[in-house]
Amino acid sequence: MEKPISRRNLLAGSVALSAAVCAGSKQKAAANENAIDDSKKVEAAKELRRGKSPWPVWSDGDEKGLVNVLNSGQWGRLSGDRVALFEKTWAEKMQAKHCIATSSGTTALLTTLGALNIGPGDEVIMPPYTFVATFNVITNSFALPVFVDSDIESFQIDAKKIAASVTENTKLLLPVHIGGSPFDIDAVKAVSADKKIPFIEDACQAHLAAWRGQPVGTHGLGGCFSFQASKNLNSGEGGAILTNDEEFAHRCYNYHTPGGSRPVSSYGRGSNFRMTEFQGTMLLSQFERVEAQSQQREANAKYLSEMLSKIGGIKPAKLYDGCTRSAWHLYMFRYDKSQFGGIAKDAFLAELGKEGIQASGGYAQLNRAKHVIALASNPHYQRIYGAEFMAKWLEKSACPVNDQLCSEAIWLGQTNLLVERSEMDRIASGIEKVRKRFA
Ligand SMILES: Cc1ncc(COP(=O)(O)O)c(C=O)c1O
Repeated sequence: MEKPISRRNLLAGSVALSAAVCAGSKQKAAANENAIDDSKKVEAAKELRRGKSPWPVWSDGDEKGLVNVLNSGQWGRLSGDRVALFEKTWAEKMQAKHCIATSSGTTALLTTLGALNIGPGDEVIMPPYTFVATFNVITNSFALPVFVDSDIESFQIDAKKIAASVTENTKLLLPVHIGGSPFDIDAVKAVSADKKIPFIEDACQAHLAAWRGQPVGTHGLGGCFSFQASKNLNSGEGGAILTNDEEFAHRCYNYHTPGGSRPVSSYGRGSNFRMTEFQGTMLLSQFERVEAQSQQREANAKYLSEMLSKIGGIKPAKLYDGCTRSAWHLYMFRYDKSQFGGIAKDAFLAELGKEGIQASGGYAQLNRAKHVIALASNPHYQRIYGAEFMAKWLEKSACPVNDQLCSEAIWLGQTNLLVERSEMDRIASGIEKVRKRFA
């Protein structure tokens, strides 16, 4: 496989262009020679990947934006205007009143927890079928993650089980739109209203997804997005918080920048999680293609689901009735091993590989991961919650449905959907061939 162009090379190319414009001193001339070399490499790499690797995708506009920021000398949001424009644009696109850009999805989530002053002794409800960052932001706040088992059909948190896990210490519900498909927002909203506990949507994978026509990230107190390199909207790293609550927006803003000047306190807490102008300009230029890419993923995913549903033992992840748009960051399905000669997942993935299908086995059981288990013996946690309580917490973290889900789940990444429709036929017929081999 060809080597994808690196972000470092891209920036080296931009440096080359900038240096060529400003040449003057001897030093600059020497730098220029190296830069021109790098620039050639960039051009060669671009040529190699043109029309082949679908990710990441960029054009001259992205390059121009980066060079403009570079030459402006205003590389941070405190002096530049790209991040602010990105915030305005993302808020408008997602029908939210406020947006606060951050350095990553993790820091977006951390900011929301910080802005809510979540800390030691507080419990936060989360699903076990998610990226580890959802867990990490809770433990970074020394709060207690409480796992609520998965709905095996949808891969999402089983919202019917949330209420039973709420205690007097529950301060936040943190469900995740996994794969970019909405969790059951109606059900989560109902528990949130009934128990008077806010919810934040971890929408890190769910750009442009919608529930009953309204974009995700705007249904609870706030929603967090990631713009990390693999995401449908990407600036290498990056994140954002959406909210319709002005006071919460101010708290988040103040938390994410040292000594934030908005008119609310952030409980004496804060950090520096600001997005750079380089990230801001990348996101602005990526907006040009995000809608068309989303439509292509959507059309291919729907078609693929029709095809896969006809294959015995293959079950595409269910979308809830309220889902009016999925981001299709992941195309997720389950295989029933009894219909594939009883083979374990690794062997199933190897069979798919033989058919030229690049699939992944998805998440392992997060609630059984080494560092999750380690939390029970973390001295800070033992001091805050007690050793006995932490041992019980570990026992209560069992999620039997999720265990089964992890053994059956298969993913195709979003770039598998950014291709011709005939590729969907190829994937479906490849899986059918595997089934026949074991029938
Ligand atoms: C569900 C989920 N939450 C949080 C994150 C964290 O985002 P980031 O990698 O931008 O810090 C990710 C990123 O993959 C994610 O998928």
